[in-house]
Amino acid sequence: MPVITNIDDLKRLHKKRTPKMFYDYCESGAWTEQTFRENVTDFDKIRLRQRIAVDMEGRTTATQMIGQDVSMPVALAPVGLTGMQRADGEIKAAKAAEKFGVPFTLSTMSICSIEEVDKHTTKPFWFQLYVMRDQDFLEGIIQRAKDAKVSALVLTLDLQILGQRHKDLKNGLSVPLRPTLPNIANLATKWQWGLEMLATKNKSFGNIVGHAKGVSNMGSLFTWTAEQFDPRLDWDKIKKIKEMWGGPLILKGILDEEDARRAVDVGADAIIVSNHGGRQLDGALSSIRRLEPIIAAVGDQFEVHIDSGIRSGQDVLKATAMGATGTYIGRAYIYGLGAMGEAGVTKALEVIHKELDMSMALCGRRNINDVDRDILLVPEDFAGRWA
Ligand SMILES: Cc1cc2nc3c(=O)[nH]c(=O)nc-3n(C[C@H](O)[C@H](O)[C@H](O)COP(=O)(O)O)c2cc1C
Repeated sequence: MPVITNIDDLKRLHKKRTPKMFYDYCESGAWTEQTFRENVTDFDKIRLRQRIAVDMEGRTTATQMIGQDVSMPVALAPVGLTGMQRADGEIKAAKAAEKFGVPFTLSTMSICSIEEVDKHTTKPFWFQLYVMRDQDFLEGIIQRAKDAKVSALVLTLDLQILGQRHKDLKNGLSVPLRPTLPNIANLATKWQWGLEMLATKNKSFGNIVGHAKGVSNMGSLFTWTAEQFDPRLDWDKIKKIKEMWGGPLILKGILDEEDARRAVDVGADAIIVSNHGGRQLDGALSSIRRLEPIIAAVGDQFEVHIDSGIRSGQDVLKATAMGATGTYIGRAYIYGLGAMGEAGVTKALEVIHKELDMSMALCGRRNINDVDRDILLVPEDFAGRWA
């Protein structure tokens, strides 16, 4: 059993144990991957202020996100095809999150359906919605989320069209994996993945197949997806979805103050400052650079959360100190899942929690709710002067 001390250790194992096509799907950004890279490297530019001789006993990272208790301000981000990184991946990740006391967000493009995840969990989870043109499907999936007692809807707004990720095109990404010669050769070294996959019935897009009109098999699914993401999505439609849903609503993919103000107008409960992990508009600024300007614009109106580039508890601490009331990890838990299944997701959460707790202590704070900008050393003009 390898000794796992950080998220990179999990990433190495994920790469070793998962078919190349799915590892690459996770480990890629759009076009040149500049934004994907800078999401991570911009966190490194922020430093922490070491303090001494402060009582460190009785520390806690427990807080709330949108009024719900969390053991640390970290949620699992929605990740499509999670059940291809490891069989029943969504169920495994949801169980690990539930035990750890953090929210799990199920993607519309998940392999395990809302109902499957509901069946295997005991606490409410969050559901991420992509807006589709098919109104019946849209109404149906919102109803299914309600029936499963989903406790927050995360509406993703930065993917009306799909960003181009070169690796996926070159690998011929498909669900399920096509039995081509390179795929078979690659699978020969991933036998555990293959055995687990053979044993599960969850092999396709569980939220869609059998629920959307005319989608009963994979061939029609790809046509359907390409045609169905709604390119006409606008703020009026967002308002309508809020009314249809009627519960806590988090808007994901905000990177600009003007959009953040529109999110206030539609009555969202929170926004996620996000560039989709660098998978959509390459050349956009990193989320952490956009955080403070957006908080300055709307931070007194609702909760501002962040994702993209978080790979450690120190990153969580930095974002929290800048004023984010919640953070999300995407790849960091997928590495864990691909490495070791549910135990790997738990390990990723443990690693992040430990780093968060220890760094908070060494910055002289005992309670995550007392963490503020004072613990940071931020380069002057970190947000940048852009004209
Ligand atoms: C493999 C992969 C699939 C993703 N699928 C979705 C998705 O289905 N819906 C969504 O809203 N975001 C999706 N995202 C974006 C994540 O929710 C999140 O914004 C991103 O992973 C954060 O960046 P990080 O991976 O650097 O933590 C995906 C991200 C990855 C890496």
